[in-house]
Amino acid sequence: MQRSHARSRLKHKSDMDPLHLHTQPGQRSSLAKPKCKPKKSIILIIVGSAAIALIISFVCYTFLLSGRNRRVSLRYSVVIDGGSSGTRVHVFGYRIESGNPVFDFSGDDGYASMKLSPGLSSYADDPEGASVSVAELVEFAKGRVPKRVLKESEIRLMATAGMRLLDVSVQERILQVTRRVLRSSGFKFRDDSALVISGSDEGVYAWVVANYALGSLGGDPLQTTGIVELGGASTQVTFVSSEHVPSEFLRTITYGNVSYRIYSHSFLNLGQDAAHEKLWESLNNLAANSTGEGIVTDPCTPKGYIPDKNSTGEGVVLPGESKFTDSLQAAGNFSKCRSAAFNILQEGKEKCHYKHCSIGSTFTPNLRGSFLATENFFHTSKFFALREKDWLSAMISAGESFCGDDWSKLKVKHPTFKDESLLRYCFSSAYIVSMLHDSLGVALDDQRVEFASEAGEKGIPLDWALGAFILNTATAISDNSGKSRKILLK
Ligand SMILES: *[C@@H]1O[C@H](CO)[C@@H](O)[C@H](O)[C@H]1NC(C)=O
Ligand SMILES: *[C@@H]1O[C@H](CO)[C@@H](O)[C@H](O)[C@H]1NC(C)=O
Ligand SMILES: *[C@@H]1O[C@H](CO)[C@@H](O)[C@H](O)[C@H]1NC(C)=O
Ligand SMILES: *[C@@H]1O[C@H](CO)[C@@H](O)[C@H](O)[C@H]1NC(C)=O
Repeated sequence: MQRSHARSRLKHKSDMDPLHLHTQPGQRSSLAKPKCKPKKSIILIIVGSAAIALIISFVCYTFLLSGRNRRVSLRYSVVIDGGSSGTRVHVFGYRIESGNPVFDFSGDDGYASMKLSPGLSSYADDPEGASVSVAELVEFAKGRVPKRVLKESEIRLMATAGMRLLDVSVQERILQVTRRVLRSSGFKFRDDSALVISGSDEGVYAWVVANYALGSLGGDPLQTTGIVELGGASTQVTFVSSEHVPSEFLRTITYGNVSYRIYSHSFLNLGQDAAHEKLWESLNNLAANSTGEGIVTDPCTPKGYIPDKNSTGEGVVLPGESKFTDSLQAAGNFSKCRSAAFNILQEGKEKCHYKHCSIGSTFTPNLRGSFLATENFFHTSKFFALREKDWLSAMISAGESFCGDDWSKLKVKHPTFKDESLLRYCFSSAYIVSMLHDSLGVALDDQRVEFASEAGEKGIPLDWALGAFILNTATAISDNSGKSRKILLK
């Protein structure tokens, strides 16, 4: 999601501080120098200083009042999302009205964000290196939160799948570096506010922001909207099921007087990029093992694709670069690619201990109700310019045509795309159909599953970090005020 500029609308607020009027040196010193006739000048001084004092207090009062009306009552909170491809800071401004937080993700003061690449997990060999980007993101946040409320504004760092894939000791070393930066940031920070969150936390947070945006949070659980997220490293499925859900997949949150029992699972390594890597690995194993004339074909790469071996500059490694050897040939074919994707999604099925397993050996209840399909589900649908209705069946024809095309023709059709981005869409289209239809059983013409990157009338971004902020803020406020309105995440 490239929304850093569009969303960076929070303005600098502390540029002009009206309180500085008190300490302008010029006025005071001229008053303190009586010149000619003492009596008259004493009266003049008294009257003069009274008038000036009045003017100064009036000016200060007006400034403070106008400030209070517009923003003095705003509170701030910062969430840093440590994702696999980059780290993004989110700065939130919100008001409290009759004890409840009021969010405004579309307003100028309510929300701003910025992303830096690469992600925290790329500092596995050099944890210290992570401090630079975190410090830059903190600076962005400080530029958007008035100085005087800095130390009461919370900052958190939550890392996701990229970090989850690292050894715990490496994760901890990287987190320690980020904690050091955040501790000295001036924001309110506790060491345990920088952590690696679980995949199901991420899913629940995404579910919270989606239902907040749609106005269904606080209503009938069976009227809520589920969410499927196709990330780079992991995929999350989160929704309220009416089936029995084993406790290891069950999360409970309470909003107001309504309790939601939510199925949430994150399929680690089954994000789009991780699955694509897995496919290449297995094809390369086949190719390495094939003897003699046996040439292995890659059905998920359009024919004619030749990795540009020269373009390794700027730290960019083409996904196919190290993968294509002389015995592995690009031979795009959507239906073969869809079967290959299905094999990846079904791996380990024989170990299923539940009533049924839709993906691998993991239990997923039958999908019910409506769903929003986000992240790569959205990006790929947009790339193929699919309509919101019947997009899943349209994805098949779009994928067939893309996978079957010549690489050179695709390059001409999509001149603005870098090879490594363009290359993904054949696999992506096949993987999406295989995941939603072949594995999770969504009918191709099912209109209850929509692709989206934002939701609701205000177009609130479907970013789990917003859900984390909503949940943390509402919980903290209900804890402080002892009011009955509570959101708890168990
Ligand atoms: C929750 O509270 C509202 C009023 O505050 C009430 O109308 C509603 O019926 C309650 N819902 C449940 C499930 O108790
Ligand atoms: C050959 O295939 C086996 C699995 O069938 C795999 O474990 C092995 O790594 C492959 N050999 C090479 C050189 O990749
Ligand atoms: C790659 O480099 C070789 C020689 O260094 C050059 O002849 C060739 O044109 C380059 N290929 C591309 C696609 O730039
Ligand atoms: C793609 O593969 C399928 C299944 O192997 C085959 O029936 C079909 O003819 C292939 N399509 C093309 C265009 O080669």
